Amino acid sequence: MSDDTTQTNTAARMHSVTDETRGIVDLVLDYSRRRILADDTPLDHPSTEAELKRIAGATITEEGLGARRALGLFEHVFAPACITTDHPQYLSFIPSAPSKAAIAFDLVVSSSALYGGSWMEGAGAVHAENEVLDWLASEFGLPEGAGGVFVQGGTIGNLSALVAARDSARAARSERGLGDPEGGWAMVCSAEAHSSNKSAARVMDVDVIAVPGGDDGVLHADAVRAALEEHGDRVFAVVATGGSTNFGIVDDIAGIAALKDEFDFWLHIDGAYGLTAMLSPLGRPFFEGVERADSVIVDPHKWLFAPYDVCALIYRDPELARRAHTQHAEYLDTLTETDDWAPSDYSIQLTRRPRGLPMWFSLATYGVAAYRDAVTHSLELARQIAAEIERRPGLRLVRDPQLSVVVFERDGWERGDYDRWSAKLLEEQRAFVVPSSHAGRPNTRFAIVNPRTTFEHLTAILDSME
Ligand SMILES: Cc1ncc(COP(=O)(O)O)c(C=O)c1O
Repeated sequence: MSDDTTQTNTAARMHSVTDETRGIVDLVLDYSRRRILADDTPLDHPSTEAELKRIAGATITEEGLGARRALGLFEHVFAPACITTDHPQYLSFIPSAPSKAAIAFDLVVSSSALYGGSWMEGAGAVHAENEVLDWLASEFGLPEGAGGVFVQGGTIGNLSALVAARDSARAARSERGLGDPEGGWAMVCSAEAHSSNKSAARVMDVDVIAVPGGDDGVLHADAVRAALEEHGDRVFAVVATGGSTNFGIVDDIAGIAALKDEFDFWLHIDGAYGLTAMLSPLGRPFFEGVERADSVIVDPHKWLFAPYDVCALIYRDPELARRAHTQHAEYLDTLTETDDWAPSDYSIQLTRRPRGLPMWFSLATYGVAAYRDAVTHSLELARQIAAEIERRPGLRLVRDPQLSVVVFERDGWERGDYDRWSAKLLEEQRAFVVPSSHAGRPNTRFAIVNPRTTFEHLTAILDSME
């Protein structure tokens, strides 16, 4: 008996509340508190694997290192080898800019062992997430009844939406006694659409009809019309981009949406980065037509101030998505035989943390107006710095910005010049701005989503190009 008890206690060492546990929790919360409240976290920079191995040594051992040493390694060796993506001078790719409330609440989500896949297990969490989805749907002009789920990121969001689109097209043909179209299914998107859409097509084994945008980078309705006329009922979906990653350019959503009057297709809006701009009166006019979408995505880890990693996937008619995605298994019968709302029914993933909760808490804490102000700040700053670039001799905008991505060239610079300049900026810990390119010519870009980024930060970077 006493042997059994001893064995049980040893087995439960990692799970019991003991002095050791209290020490670990204090260490971790103390670190998190310092990191969240620090105003001067450096940009940091990557290291080589050899260097990390040399400094840290083997960290996975039979006996364990103990929390103090493991956390020390993280704080002093591993964390400094990760770039601070929420730094105001991190302007590459699409940065992150989680609000303080959202970051703090992420800890609460982790501490609470919440399961967000079903109503039975996570009703309260799912309700709170759905409030955010409802709010987003109404901002986007989608009708009452629209709904969906928070998934890991835009890639999974696009794939899940397109799977639902194809399933719905297939069901419609089957009702008419038809099988799959001759030549197989195809989706239409801009040649400049995000790579995740092409990746979704590969996973689904469907063809991509990549339609070139205009010189302005916009996918125009007449080009989509031509593709629809040419490829007929093979096309189950048209993807319009609401803010391209390279340029922040919005496709002609209104024109493309109007084609739904003549052609039968599912309109998906990939707004992973840009759809957030609808929250601001400066961005909203670009998005006319979104209200006709069959599905949309937007990533709160991009411009909606949530920590990684989260995408809001919203369907106009969630029932179509439920039919495509619900997983059936004997052990799940008790969940699938009810009418309760189960987030797992709306995407390709089953088990999920309620990853929309950090955004819910932040939005509930600060209110919608704070979000509108923060988004407007980035849109204004992008316009200001674009004007400054045009004013400066030697610099040239590649395209006029629509949202908060500003792409520009320095006269006479080759790729190597951008590489050296960018490396120096990071080495001096002044900014993280990497080279990019368009139509074979090198350039660089500012992607502005952090409300702490200032005009002065950006002009100092321009100065460094002289
Ligand atoms: C327009 C667009 N769509 C989709 C994605 C993919 O999103 P994620 O990286 O969250 O999978 C991105 C990422 O930058 C994007 O900008």
